[in-house]
Amino acid sequence: MQDLAGKVAFVSGGGSGIGRGIALGLAAESMVVAVADIRLEGAQAVAAEIIERGGHALAIRVDVTSLESLELAAKRVAAEAGGLNLLCANAGVLARMASNDDHTVEDWEYTLSVNVLGIMKTIRVFLPLLRQSAPDAHIVNTASLGGLVATGGLPISAYVASKYACVGYSEFLRGELAAEEIGVSVLCPGVVESDLMNTSSRNRPEGFGRSAAFEGAATPGDVDSPAVADTSMPAEEVGPIVVEAIRANRPYIFTHPHARQAVEKRFQRIFDDFEFAAQAVGKT
Ligand SMILES: NC(=O)c1ccc[n+]([C@@H]2O[C@H](COP(=O)([O-])OP(=O)(O)OC[C@H]3O[C@@H](n4cnc5c(N)ncnc54)[C@H](O)[C@@H]3O)[C@@H](O)[C@H]2O)c1
Repeated sequence: MQDLAGKVAFVSGGGSGIGRGIALGLAAESMVVAVADIRLEGAQAVAAEIIERGGHALAIRVDVTSLESLELAAKRVAAEAGGLNLLCANAGVLARMASNDDHTVEDWEYTLSVNVLGIMKTIRVFLPLLRQSAPDAHIVNTASLGGLVATGGLPISAYVASKYACVGYSEFLRGELAAEEIGVSVLCPGVVESDLMNTSSRNRPEGFGRSAAFEGAATPGDVDSPAVADTSMPAEEVGPIVVEAIRANRPYIFTHPHARQAVEKRFQRIFDDFEFAAQAVGKT
């Protein structure tokens, strides 16, 4: 999708951090932005910021774990913005930063319900609307560098599992939707300034256990860790990167290019084990 001006975007988790950065970046390209968040005040503040800058935005409360909530949001986008060209499934949580042993079952359920099922449900509900705009239609799912590299760094096993799922799902969708000329990108940011640790606890529903999320401090990272090695980026800088990647229909969107080394090391380990397998198979 080359020409963004006047087109309509929906950004979940748009009320804070990376979602806000994406929303501002899209609005700067004269897109109409539906800023959606489980925290309506956050969505309203970002929509107001866009309008103050002369842009067009609406604020919507949405809980991406609920199909019903998403369906109401889609109806509002259709009615108030007249269609949809860009779906940014960005809402995500970091339920706990602690060793794998110290993660509770509820941590796993909460993490997967937002970071994986939330993205799947968002796409399920909004795809019919998006299809009406193809080929001017694109999806950006927010994963993480932690969706490509799991080694060392931060004690976030459930989060990493959810982000690997997001990358896999996005890669699959990209293949499947190419025939319909709907682009799919997966955003894999390094560390970006945001409110992730606070909002993840604050928004945690009671059904997912207690909300005190962070018991373990970050462990010293190993050399592969993109999270620990990288410096933090202001969220506003993510928006223009996403815009350029959408225009170029890139499959992966990176904010920290030097994290490539960590990904190379991971793939080298995988290739090494193909070599190992080739030798092992040769022996049988
Ligand atoms: N900040 C980073 O360093 C970083 C790095 C890689 C990936 N990410 C990912 O970026 C995305 C945005 O996170 P962020 O860092 O900007 O954090 P953030 O907490 O500042 O923003 C996330 C937003 O999502 C909203 N949200 C949470 N649960 C929701 C739900 N069920 N329905 C709708 N909205 C919900 C929150 O209210 C919040 O406004 C997440 O998917 C996160 O995993 C963040």
